Amino acid sequence: MAIHAVVNEAGSAGKTTTAVTLAAILAESGRRTLLWDNDAQGNATLFVGVQAVPGKTAAEVLVGERSLDEVIVPSVVDRLSVVPADRSLHGALIQLTRDFGGEQRIRVALDTVADQYDAVIIDCPGAASVLTIAALVASGSVLAVATPSLKELEGLPNLEETIAKVRSMYKPDLHLSAVIPCIIPPASAGALYVEGHERLREAYGDLVTPPVRRSVRVPEAYSQRVPLTVHAPFEQITSDYQAVTDYLVGKKVLP
Ligand SMILES: Nc1ncnc2c1ncn2[C@@H]1O[C@H](COP(=O)(O)OP(=O)(O)OP(=O)(O)O)[C@@H](O)[C@H]1O
Ligand SMILES: [Mg+2]
Repeated sequence: MAIHAVVNEAGSAGKTTTAVTLAAILAESGRRTLLWDNDAQGNATLFVGVQAVPGKTAAEVLVGERSLDEVIVPSVVDRLSVVPADRSLHGALIQLTRDFGGEQRIRVALDTVADQYDAVIIDCPGAASVLTIAALVASGSVLAVATPSLKELEGLPNLEETIAKVRSMYKPDLHLSAVIPCIIPPASAGALYVEGHERLREAYGDLVTPPVRRSVRVPEAYSQRVPLTVHAPFEQITSDYQAVTDYLVGKKVLP
């Protein structure tokens, strides 16, 4: 079971869109896939057509009130299941910060379903917290998303520092396995983005995947509560994510 955390220590970078779309593509191509919503906003949950039921979410798993298989639900995509989240994750976060071993809770929960899934994608919140650390501790590798404006690029060294800390404390083989440029505007948007993309390549080399362009289909799909593979299967944005998936499968990052 390959476990990946989709992260960026910044908001609105395209994390949830990327986690949901990669999970949907993997599921549609035959992998039994689990999408773990690790953000109290619950965006990933809604994006795959699931309404979280209070008391049966990631929060209860993290505080030990429910087992993982009690909260997992199917999504609108075949073979794609979800660990739903809602605002109750805020409370779980506070408890996790106080409890012993909070950062191990996602790993321990996922161990109980290891034989049921080929891939797990964890959608992380924008701010660094014990929830992000718990996702990193559970994961084999990290998929970072980045919008190549210079401000966003500055967040990546913070992320690398966090990965290095998790590696030294808990998980010696944890590594950054991809940097996915997201929400790329058209070329006419200016030199800043071109320069940002070049800096990304200089810094991260072939960890940088093909880019995901900006598309109105993303907010449309989210408001329809279906992944891009369902809402816009033949459009450029979905091909962009397919190209990212192919690139990562080719490098054996994704199964
Ligand atoms: N390729 C894209 N084209 C256009 N809009 C996009 C694209 N990707 C994401 N968006 C939009 O940008 C916003 C942020 O995207 P998303 O929710 O995926 O990011 P996030 O990093 O998960 O944000 P948060 O930190 O709030 O969790 C959303 O309104 C989404 O619809
Ligand atoms: Mg998000």
